[in-house]
Amino acid sequence: MKRRIPAAAAANFIHPEFVDPTFSHAVITWQKQHGRHLLPWQKSREAYRVWLSEIMLQQTQVTAVIPYYEKFLQSFPTVFDLAAAPAESVMAHWSGLGYYTRARNLHQCAKRVVEQYQGHFPADPLLLEQLPGIGRSTAAAITAFSYGTTAAILDGNVKRVFTRVFGIAGYPGSKPIEDGLWQRAMALLPETGIEAYTQGLMDLGATLCTRSSPSCPRCPLQARCVAYAENRTAELPTRKPKKLLKEKQAVMLVLIHQGQVLLERRPDSGIWGGLLSLPEMSGMIEIGKDSVADDIDEQQLGAMIAKFGSAGSRRQLPDIEHVFTHFKLHIRVVLVEIFQRQLGVANDNFVWMDLSRMGDAALPAPIKTLLMSL
Ligand code: ADE
Ligand code: SF4
Repeated sequence: MKRRIPAAAAANFIHPEFVDPTFSHAVITWQKQHGRHLLPWQKSREAYRVWLSEIMLQQTQVTAVIPYYEKFLQSFPTVFDLAAAPAESVMAHWSGLGYYTRARNLHQCAKRVVEQYQGHFPADPLLLEQLPGIGRSTAAAITAFSYGTTAAILDGNVKRVFTRVFGIAGYPGSKPIEDGLWQRAMALLPETGIEAYTQGLMDLGATLCTRSSPSCPRCPLQARCVAYAENRTAELPTRKPKKLLKEKQAVMLVLIHQGQVLLERRPDSGIWGGLLSLPEMSGMIEIGKDSVADDIDEQQLGAMIAKFGSAGSRRQLPDIEHVFTHFKLHIRVVLVEIFQRQLGVANDNFVWMDLSRMGDAALPAPIKTLLMSL
């Protein structure tokens, strides 16, 4: 009978089928011969330096990090110096590295390590993970490099290597795939040599198993790599699924009278803010995917037209579809010939304008296209 694993424990369960000591052996042997050994933070096992480098390396390339790392250590040689520094000075040293939340968390973390741990970073990754800016993978990397603690890392590079070697499809940032990858990461840990193993996984991901052109012929995992064998390195890891765009529907009026069209200035906030556009009936409504409503509220439509004049003939034009950053808008367009214009239009936001002037008017592109085609 299959054993059910509670969701919370799924990422910590060591699946016996995933255990394979030859994996870490291959990574460690390769790292010692071909991995990176001369990076500035590899000169020291001091937890403060390892922590600083791992935070800087979270979202930034090695070559960009190196000068920042050196300068930072000159200014803040110990965690006590960093904890005591003014926030502006820490931010100034980070300036140019990007993702500034990292710098604020770094400063907070230094203060916590001084106050809570007398300046000693804990060797237990579960304690490290409680500190600001340190996630599970970073905690494991820090404790592996500074204390030799055996714990699993799973950053973006390692996810790429694992999904390719084991042929795991599905977005690695999704919960079930990520849980499965953590299970692999733990089951594959070596009995000894965690430093070379951890560095080796990082080096493989950064130097051989790159995103767009992996160097499979030189890779120590090639013989066991599913993506290589099945020619799937371009598909793995599976890319993040695109968010389904919300869809909305609006009804707009083209009121025509003696060669002029009625335009309405849109509110400054919201789509097409401040531009002139067609008067819109009620508000936009959110609709299901590709489920534009066919019928228009006739009573509401009649009432709206009546504000501007007495209606003559009326016809529906083809819908306009326009894609915004966050949604797709289906515009139902109703063209109405007005034969008697109301004198005072509802308010100053409305203006009758010659159809011949549409080319120069401050209109949204799809509306301009429509009006110029009339
Ligand atoms: N990326 C994250 N940690 C790293 C490390 N210790 N060395 C090189 N690249 C890394
Ligand atoms: Fe990556 Fe190629 Fe090595 Fe597979 S064989 S792990 S795809 S570099």
